[in-house]
Amino acid sequence: MSGTRRARTLVAGIQSSLGAALALADRLEEQAAVLERGGPPAAAAVAAQGGPGRPAASNGPRDVDASLAQARMIARSGARGFAGASWAAPDWRHGPFGAEPAAAGGVRARFRPGLWQVGQVVIPPDDPGAPYSTVPLAVPLLDGRNLRIETVRARRAAAVDLVRGLLTRILAAVPAGRVRLVVYDPHELGAGLAGFAPLRAAGVASTTITTRARLEERLAELSAEVGRITVERLGGRFDSLREREDAGHGRPEPWLLLVLLGDPRLYEEGARSLSAVAAQGPACGVHVISIVQLAPLQTDPAGADDLDDVTPPDPDADDLRLDEEADSVADPLPNSVVFTAVELLADRPDWRGAQPGLWRTSLTGLLPVQLDPPPPPDLVTAVTRQVADAAAREASRPPGIAELLPGTLWESDSAAGVTVPVAQGPDGPVRLTFDDDTVHALVGGQAGAGKSTLLLDIVYGIAARYAPDQVRFHLLDFKEGLEFAQFAPGPADPFFLPHADTVGIESDREFGVAVLRAVREQMRRRAVAMRAVGARDLRGLRAADRSSAWPRVIVVVDEFQVMLTPMDEIAREGVAHLEVLARQGRAYGVHLLLASQTLSGIDALDSTAGKRGSIFGQFALRVALRTSISESRVLLSTANEAAGALAGVGEAIVNRRNGHPAGNELVRVAFPDPAVISRLRDRLATTAARSLPSVPQPRVFVGHAPAILDDNPVYRALDGRPAPAAIESAAAPIGDEPPAAIHADVSAAALSGAALSAAALSGAAQPAAAQPGGDPLALVGVPVDLAPAAVGARLAASPGRHLAVLGPLRREAVGMVQAAAASIAAQLPAGGLVAEIVAAEPTALGAAEILAERMRRAGHPVRVADVTGLRGVLAAAADETRARENAALAGTGGPAPPLRLVVVFAMDAGRAALEVRDPQSRRTGLDDLRTVTRRGPAMRVHLVGWWRGVSRMVEDLGPVNRDDIAVWAAAGVPGSDLFAMAGHRPVAGGTMPNRAVLFDRHTQSEPRTVVPFAPMVRG
Ligand SMILES: Nc1ncnc2c1ncn2[C@@H]1O[C@H](COP(=O)(O)OP(=O)(O)O)[C@@H](O)[C@H]1O
Ligand SMILES: [Mg+2]
Repeated sequence: MSGTRRARTLVAGIQSSLGAALALADRLEEQAAVLERGGPPAAAAVAAQGGPGRPAASNGPRDVDASLAQARMIARSGARGFAGASWAAPDWRHGPFGAEPAAAGGVRARFRPGLWQVGQVVIPPDDPGAPYSTVPLAVPLLDGRNLRIETVRARRAAAVDLVRGLLTRILAAVPAGRVRLVVYDPHELGAGLAGFAPLRAAGVASTTITTRARLEERLAELSAEVGRITVERLGGRFDSLREREDAGHGRPEPWLLLVLLGDPRLYEEGARSLSAVAAQGPACGVHVISIVQLAPLQTDPAGADDLDDVTPPDPDADDLRLDEEADSVADPLPNSVVFTAVELLADRPDWRGAQPGLWRTSLTGLLPVQLDPPPPPDLVTAVTRQVADAAAREASRPPGIAELLPGTLWESDSAAGVTVPVAQGPDGPVRLTFDDDTVHALVGGQAGAGKSTLLLDIVYGIAARYAPDQVRFHLLDFKEGLEFAQFAPGPADPFFLPHADTVGIESDREFGVAVLRAVREQMRRRAVAMRAVGARDLRGLRAADRSSAWPRVIVVVDEFQVMLTPMDEIAREGVAHLEVLARQGRAYGVHLLLASQTLSGIDALDSTAGKRGSIFGQFALRVALRTSISESRVLLSTANEAAGALAGVGEAIVNRRNGHPAGNELVRVAFPDPAVISRLRDRLATTAARSLPSVPQPRVFVGHAPAILDDNPVYRALDGRPAPAAIESAAAPIGDEPPAAIHADVSAAALSGAALSAAALSGAAQPAAAQPGGDPLALVGVPVDLAPAAVGARLAASPGRHLAVLGPLRREAVGMVQAAAASIAAQLPAGGLVAEIVAAEPTALGAAEILAERMRRAGHPVRVADVTGLRGVLAAAADETRARENAALAGTGGPAPPLRLVVVFAMDAGRAALEVRDPQSRRTGLDDLRTVTRRGPAMRVHLVGWWRGVSRMVEDLGPVNRDDIAVWAAAGVPGSDLFAMAGHRPVAGGTMPNRAVLFDRHTQSEPRTVVPFAPMVRG
C-alpha cells in the first residue's frame, strides 16, 4: 500500500469515527488531497503536536508521518482519561471511578462521552523490513454508534475481552448510575462478564438474560423506551439527546448498553425490535454491543459455530455466513462500528494473508487493527466495586423532579388518560397513570414518609404536561400541612394553579364533602351530555362533542381519613359520595387520588359492611410509602407486607394491581426541588397568561383564615337594596361550565377564609333576579361549602324573623352581630332603617360604637346605649310594635315605616335590669322583649341579639316561646345544647374557634357550618 493510499484510508477511518473532530479531519483530508497531487500541503493544514501554523514537511513519507501524528493526537484527545489510558497508567491506581467530572472555575462540569480506545491501527512500513507504525484506535459508542464484533469460535475470548475492556473504561469514566447495562449471555450463563456482578446489586446492571424469550421481552421494552424518549425528549426538535443537551436542556436519561454476548437468532418481532433499537437507540443514548460468532466462508462450510451446540439446527443457519455482497452478515446491526476477525476474511484478496489475530474494522478500511490487551482482573474488580458503591449512594439520594418534567408545557392529550412520571425505578422513570384501567389511586404511608410530597410531584407533573382544559383539579388538604396553599393565590405570591377548580387548605370536613357533592353533580351533568350524543364514556363524549374540552377531573384529598372521622352525618355523606365517584368515575373521566397515614382506623368505612371493599376495590393503583406491616396489609393487600420493609423517606412500592404482591415495584419518589418548582410555576404563569388570559381562579377555602366582611363579594355587591334571593339559592356548578359563567372577579377575596362562588356573584349581578322591595338579609358568615359566598337570616315581615347569636365565643359572636346589622344597613336606602344598639356588657361598647358608625355612614339614624339603656330601648321597640299594629288595624298606616332594628350585645348581662317591673306600665323588660320577639317582625321591628348561653335566651323568651326567634347562629355551643333548638336534629359543627353553626328553622333542613365574619375594626 502506498503512503498516500494509507493516508487516505486512515483519514477515512478517522473521519467516520470522529464526529466532533471533523474539522480537524477535514484538514487532514485536505492534506491527503495535496499529497495525492504531489504538491506540498497547505501551510496551515497540519496541526500535529506543534500547533497551527507550523509548516509541514513537504515530502510524501514525512507528510504521512505528520498525518499519523495528527491521527494519534485525535485519538488521544477524543479518548481522554479512563477512556484512553493504558491499563498500566497511574490513573487506574488512583481512581476515583464513576465520579462526576471535577468542577472547573466553580462551574460544575458535565460528563460528555467521546471515544473509547480499543486497540492500535497497524500501519505497514513503506520499506519492507522497517518497523510497523501504529495509531491508537478509539471508537465512538455512547452518543455515537453501536458496536458489532464478528468473530470465529477461536477468537471469541478476544472479542469478549474487547467488550470487557470497553465496559471497564465506560464504567470508570461515566458518573455512577448514569450508564446501565443489560447483558444477554446464553452460553456462559453469566460467566462472560462475571467480574461485573457487583453492579447488579447496585442496579447498574440488570440480571443477566440467558433465554431468547426473555431477551425478546426486554427488546420490546427497550424499543418502547427508545420510542418514548424519541417522542418525549426529542419531540421532532432534536435529532439526539446529545443535541438536546447541547441546546441546554440537561441530560434526563441514563445511557443504556445492551450487550449481546451471543447471537440470539431473533425472528420477526424480536429481530425488528433489535433493529429498531440499533437504528434509533444511539440518538437516545441506547447502544447495542453485539458479539456474533460466524463460520469463515469456504474454509469451514460445516459451521464451527458453537451456537449449534445449544440450539437445534437452524434452517436459516446459512445467514450466519459472511455475506460477500453486503460485506457483513445478512442481518447487520444498523448504525454500527463493525469489527471482523481477519480469520473470517480468508477469501478476500485484500485480506488474504493478513496476520491471524488482527481485525478489520469499519473505521480503518484496509488497515488492520490489533486489539489492546484486556484489563487486569483486579482492575475490573476495583472499578466495578467503586462504581457499584457510588451508584448505590447515588441511588439513595432522592431523584430530582427536574428530569421528570417535560421540556414543553401542555403537549399531552388526556382523552385516553393522564400519565405522569413521579419516581425512579430500576428501569428508569416510573409513571403513574389515571385511565380506564387504573382509574383511582391510593397513597399510604406513615407521617413523614413522603405522601404529600408525592402528591405535589403528581399535581405539578400533570399540570406541566396537560393544559388546563385537559385536566381539572380539586385539591383538598385535611392536615396542618400547608402544601396545597401553593396552588392558591396568596398575599405574597399571586400564582395560582390554572388547573385548579377548588383548593381547600386545612379543609373543614364539610367543605370536603361539599366538593365531593359538587363533583358528583358534575358527573350527573356529564351523564346528560353523554346521553345527548350517545357516548358511553368520556372518550366517546370528547369524540362526539368537540365544542367543549371535557377535561379529566382529578380529586386529590390529602389525609382523607380526617374527612371521614368521626362517624357522623358528614362522614356518612362523604362515604356515600366517595363510593359513587369510585364506582362511576371511569365512565366520566373522574379520578380520585386519596392519601392517608392510616387506612385501618376509619370507622365510617367499617361500620357499613362492604363500603371499604366497594370503594377501594376500584383503586387499582396503590402507592405505599414507609408504614407498618399491618397498614401495608390494609393499604396493599392482606398478603402484601412490602411497605413495612421500606426504609427511607420517599421510598415506595408502586402497585397497579389492587395491591397484589406480584405487582410490587420498588421506586424512589422524586423530590420537588424548590428551585425547579419555582421555575415551573413561572412557566405555568406565563403560559397561562399568554394562552388563557381569562382562566378563572380556583375557589379557595382556607380553614384558619377569617372571613372579612369588607372583602366578601356578597357584602360588597350590596347597594342599598335587599340582596337578591339568588344568593341563597345559588348552587355551585363546577367544571364544564361555559366560559362566560366563570368570569367574575373573585381575586380580592380569594383568601378571605371563604369558598367563593362565582356563580353566586354573577347571580347577584343580574337585575332580573333581584326583588325590589324584598327583605334584607342579615349576613353572619361564609358557609363551609362551595357556595354561596355568604349566608345569614332573611328579616322578612313574618313571625320568627329575628336573629339570635348564641355562645360564649366573643370574637365569633361580636363579628356575626356586627355583620348582620351592617349588612342590613347596606341593603336599605337612607331613611329606611332606624337602629338602636345596646352593649349590655361594658366590654362590648367598643364593638357597638364601631358598628353604629358604619351604619350611620350608610345614612341611617343609630343610637348606642349601655346596659342602663336596655330597658328603654326594648320598651320603645315594644311601644313601636304596638303603635304600628294599631295603625295597621285602623288603616292609618300610610307608606311603609322604616325597619326598626334592635341590636343587643350580651343580652344576658342585662337580665337583672329586665326583670324589674315598671311601676307605671306594670311591664318588665322581659315582657317588652317578648312583645318584640313575638309580634315585632310583622311590624318590621326586628331583633339581632347575642346571648352567651342557650339557656339564657330560652329563659328570656320563655320556654314555650323558644321558636319566636327562628334563626340562630351558635359559636362554641356543644351540639347537645342545640339539639332541641335545631328541631331535634344532631348538630355537628360550630364548636371550634372561627366556626359557627347557622340554623334557620324556616328555610334549612340541616344546620350549616359557617365561618363567622370577623369583628369590624375601627376606620
Ligand atoms: N421523595 C422524597 N425525597 C426526599 N425527601 C422527601 C421526599 N418525600 C418527602 N421528603 C421529605 O420528608 C418530609 C416529610 O414529607 P411529607 O411529604 O410531608 O410526608 P407525609 O405527607 O407522608 O407526612 C419532608 O420534609 C419532605 O421534604
Ligand atoms: Mg402530609
